[in-house]
Amino acid sequence: MKIEIKNICCIGAGYVGGPTMAVIADRCHDIQINVVDVNENRIQAWNSENLSHLPIYEPNLDQVIKRRRGRNLHFSTEIKYHISNADMIFISVNTPTKTKGIGAGKASDLKWVEASARQVSKYAKGETIVVEKSTLPVKTALMIRQILETSLEKTNDSQTDNKQFYVLSNPEFLSEGTAIQDLECPDRVLIGGENQEAIKALVNIYLNWVDKEKILTTDLWSSELSKLIANAFLAQRISSINSISALCEATGADVKEVSTAIGADKRIGNYFLNASPGFGGSCFKKDILNLVYICNYYGLHEVSEYWQKIIDINNWQKQRILRVIVEKLFGSVSGKKLAILGFAFKANTNDTRESAAIHICNELIIEGGNLYIYDPRVTRKQIEEDLEISENEYSYGGEGSWTFADSILDASRGADAVIVLTEWDEFKNIEWSEISTVMRSPSWLFDTRSITDQSEAKRCGMKLWSLGCGSKLQSINLMPS
Ligand code: UDX
Ligand code: ADP
Repeated sequence: MKIEIKNICCIGAGYVGGPTMAVIADRCHDIQINVVDVNENRIQAWNSENLSHLPIYEPNLDQVIKRRRGRNLHFSTEIKYHISNADMIFISVNTPTKTKGIGAGKASDLKWVEASARQVSKYAKGETIVVEKSTLPVKTALMIRQILETSLEKTNDSQTDNKQFYVLSNPEFLSEGTAIQDLECPDRVLIGGENQEAIKALVNIYLNWVDKEKILTTDLWSSELSKLIANAFLAQRISSINSISALCEATGADVKEVSTAIGADKRIGNYFLNASPGFGGSCFKKDILNLVYICNYYGLHEVSEYWQKIIDINNWQKQRILRVIVEKLFGSVSGKKLAILGFAFKANTNDTRESAAIHICNELIIEGGNLYIYDPRVTRKQIEEDLEISENEYSYGGEGSWTFADSILDASRGADAVIVLTEWDEFKNIEWSEISTVMRSPSWLFDTRSITDQSEAKRCGMKLWSLGCGSKLQSINLMPS
């Protein structure tokens, strides 16, 4: 087979497909790349003249798009055409958790992957390498291969004379907010497959900018499973430190100091030890639910219960923070104005999927709070979609509502509390002398990321609760002897 790839088609122009193809285009000028999607609005946004209108926000993504779009990087809705011209096809479509039927709430819904595989089987010509990019449950490659092979059997011989498919797994480990940096300097690239020539074709693409030692090749199933397990281990660290944040508050310790102390041990390492209102994003919860489902399927119930606990702690953390806020505000937020700072699931992205803010805000609205939500990148429309409540509409038959705010100051005017939910840089240097004067007294700061200048807030007369901080600035509850 030919191993020099000249034409790539990527199905799915989302958070994975868009940035990944942009970086491949930037590093491989000889390859023509067409990113296709069924969503016309999304494709239009990728093609917008004004680079601030790209459908996703990622630091430096606009610069890469500016360099390559219209040269060797194209965004299009002409799915059939670009599939038929491609030597290599990446499948980067969404794989959310199933909401109904068998495996609902746990298994991944693979209907978009299946639809893509069917399109590939129908329109591809000649030898085609099909690469799974989306996070997928183990053995999805088998499903893709079966769909592709069935199409070979069903179509008449003259049409299939030259058709041949090779399936590879090449999971994406990029993290949103640092996607471009992660793609340009990955810790490793993982490629799983059976056909060595096909693997070589993909390895050759990465060799344009990634060191040989960082490219790992495995069998298909190990590659698929590694992606799931990497995410499960990362999420496990967050649930571990979040569980300790509660213990720190109870005992008078400070979770930041505990994180620094344990992270100094090389075996533990200092990454991913920031306590938070709970992990969000499109991958962690979905992947662990998948893992739980697979373990149960294979009769490994103890293993499945172990991983389920990571999700349970994550849910508990959000609920626990909500309880703290309501209790501190004299047991009720009804009719009170609350400034919410941050709605994205983490800083430097406009993505809100599974953001802890969605749950916490919804519950505060149910409690009757009037939320003024400010996020530097999340739009009013997105917040409305996530909360499933129109702006300024009283909900749940009570007093609760939400309003979009244009700035920190706008959100804080007349507020009883400022609640920091996302770790945007902008929130690290808030002028508390200015904000505290426009708030109603007693004015509270609830910092669920421990990023604000808390001594300054305290100096300005604000009351303070910081996640995992049981000492110094907060009141200490000593354990009864
Ligand atoms: C994750 C994986 O990191 C990435 O490798 C994979 O490809 C996709 O899933 P992503 O979801 O984009 O990436 O972001 P990540 O930085 O992992 O953060 C996930 C969530 O964990 C965020 O809500 C973040 O705020 C939270 N988090 C992260 C913490 O609460 N504490 C930490 O120390 C780190
Ligand atoms: P991810 O974070 O995995 O990139 P997204 O939801 O951001 O997920 O993007 C997935 C994209 O895949 C969406 O824009 C969606 O419209 C697109 N998509 C889903 N199914 C198909 C399909 N059969 N053909 C083309 N595009 C598809």
